Amino acid sequence: MITKPTIDRIMEATDIVEVIGEFVQLKKRGANYVGLSPFANERTPSFTVSPVKGIFKDFSSGKGGSAVTFLMELEKFTYPEALKWLAKKYGIEVEETVEAPENREAENHRESLMIVSGYAAKFFHESLLETDEGKNIGLSYFKERGFSKETITKFELGYSPDQWEAFTGQALKEGYQQEFLEETGLSVKRDNGSLYDRYRGRVMFPIHSFTGRVIAFGGRTLKSDKNVPKYVNSPESEIYHKSSVLYGLYFAKKAIREEDNCYLVEGYADVISVHQAGIENVVASSGTSLTVEQIRLIGRLTKNITILYDGDAAGIKASLRGLDMILEEGLNVKVVLFPDGHDPDSYVRLVGTSAFKKYIADTRKDFILYKADILLKDAGTDPIKRAEVIREIVESIAKIPDSIKASVFIKECSYILKIDERALLSELNKMRMAKAKKDSQQQQHQQTQWPAPVDEALLYEPEIKEERDDSSQEKEIIRLLLLYGNKMIDWDGIANTYIGPFMIAELSDVDFEHKASKDFVELYRKEVENGVLPDEQFFIHYPDKEIVDLTVTLIATKYTLSENWYEMHRILVPDEQANMKATILGAIFHLKKQKVGKILESLRNELQKTESETDQEILLNQYMQMKKVEKTISDYLGSVILK
Ligand code: GTP
Ligand code: MN
Repeated sequence: MITKPTIDRIMEATDIVEVIGEFVQLKKRGANYVGLSPFANERTPSFTVSPVKGIFKDFSSGKGGSAVTFLMELEKFTYPEALKWLAKKYGIEVEETVEAPENREAENHRESLMIVSGYAAKFFHESLLETDEGKNIGLSYFKERGFSKETITKFELGYSPDQWEAFTGQALKEGYQQEFLEETGLSVKRDNGSLYDRYRGRVMFPIHSFTGRVIAFGGRTLKSDKNVPKYVNSPESEIYHKSSVLYGLYFAKKAIREEDNCYLVEGYADVISVHQAGIENVVASSGTSLTVEQIRLIGRLTKNITILYDGDAAGIKASLRGLDMILEEGLNVKVVLFPDGHDPDSYVRLVGTSAFKKYIADTRKDFILYKADILLKDAGTDPIKRAEVIREIVESIAKIPDSIKASVFIKECSYILKIDERALLSELNKMRMAKAKKDSQQQQHQQTQWPAPVDEALLYEPEIKEERDDSSQEKEIIRLLLLYGNKMIDWDGIANTYIGPFMIAELSDVDFEHKASKDFVELYRKEVENGVLPDEQFFIHYPDKEIVDLTVTLIATKYTLSENWYEMHRILVPDEQANMKATILGAIFHLKKQKVGKILESLRNELQKTESETDQEILLNQYMQMKKVEKTISDYLGSVILK
């Protein structure tokens, strides 16, 4: 277990905007930051971070919490993993009460796979730098390719010895389990059940997750034998989903955000060379064609993608249609083509960083104009082919969600294609109408699947409903504890008390029904008994997800976190504070009244069922007692509470 002082130090150091900013492009808005939800596919930002409160709230998916919760949600970290990630980021030494047991069985499955992968990366890296074979074969190869020592260290490049069991044997000896070696694809099973190394005599490129953990490998052969595959890559596994990983993203994300642009290349070597040349906002889709998940991954960091194509890429034309997908995601795509025979790696080494940058700046072309160019050249003067090209181009433009941007492209294409702008626009509108129709059909389809129609009245002012459901009464108590628990209340000059302990004492006879509320109140009570007045921050950072969820839901509403924050609070809060006594007592007594109502109801039920007269008498007595309590509460609410 991580010790409390360590947790406190981590919490103190953590800047939630900085942490979330590593994953989501955030813009300052008023006192808060907003961005596109990483948990939902949205076009209008509803993901809000409040640096003052140290929380985020995602109004699309409903998720919310602290920086720790965020890491747990996004990276699927456990609580200690998230804390350790933050500790590493902020250079805080982690103290643990019990020595972390080296018992790898106990770790969960994903974690085991990551641990094995991390171990393998270390093994290959050491074998590259410290063994004769590694130095003579692997290291000299990388040196020849112009990779510096720093680059090799940064990307954790490695070498897998040209033997059948060098890695597997060592891993088994150190206690790594066969199951995980196999599942990560690091080892392959023979018919007789024994394992051998997948990558033999290859230089190794570890593939890192968004947060920098090794999740897979690409191994390049050093032989020029055509029958040997140039690259062998890790198979899909629980920690490696090819379609949602971009090679180099971990090392590029900061620069992508800063430069507000992401370079997309084809190979591992391209990423490394371009990065080494000081252009760090570069990633590769590593052999596979680009997927929507990958585009969204980039889209969280920037809206601008520049694709750097190999000069000899035969597949450019074939890939053009695939790129419409990027437009659909609302991103801007530019394209750069390198001179024949060159890829970004060879070109940057040939001309150097500044000439490379200049080349990109001079030749980069917008994807749609580029596509128009290529296809038109192909079509020549054939009118039918030209008409086909025009359709295809307008089709691409129709995919752009931003209509102003689309109309700018129409203008430019009308110039290139030498076609009347109005003709293109009418074609565009036709396609958009068709798309809108399709979308609305889809939506209707979805709606008919909803279980029940939503009562519209419920959407407005749930507060004015006479009987709130019990969970909202309980939650109101918790909201008040969170907001005012550690504030003083003045009982008409007679006494001053803290609101939290007062409420807890008043509610000691009330049973909270909803689990999260019950846990919350219990926790509050315990803290108070220990002489502590827990505040918002205590609950935001509490290790139990249910507690954090409840807390954030109650303190983060669209209003409190929106730009209208001040306005809303000028209206709401002073009102609530001016009538603090009424607010607090009102909440307590409303809840009590509700509980009493429930008791009365169950007594009535029992009375109906009971046949024995003595039992009836007892029950009736209890019923009258409770009725009195109910009346007292009602009178109290009527006289004291102004509401
Ligand atoms: P170098 O030839 O060392 O410059 O490698 P590169 O990274 O530039 O690779 P290349 O441009 O030849 O290919 C682009 C990407 O496609 C590579 O980085 C690999 O991810 C993938 N790739 C290339 N060859 C193979 C192969 O034989 N098998 C598999 N699975 N992937 C390959
Ligand atoms: Mn290459």
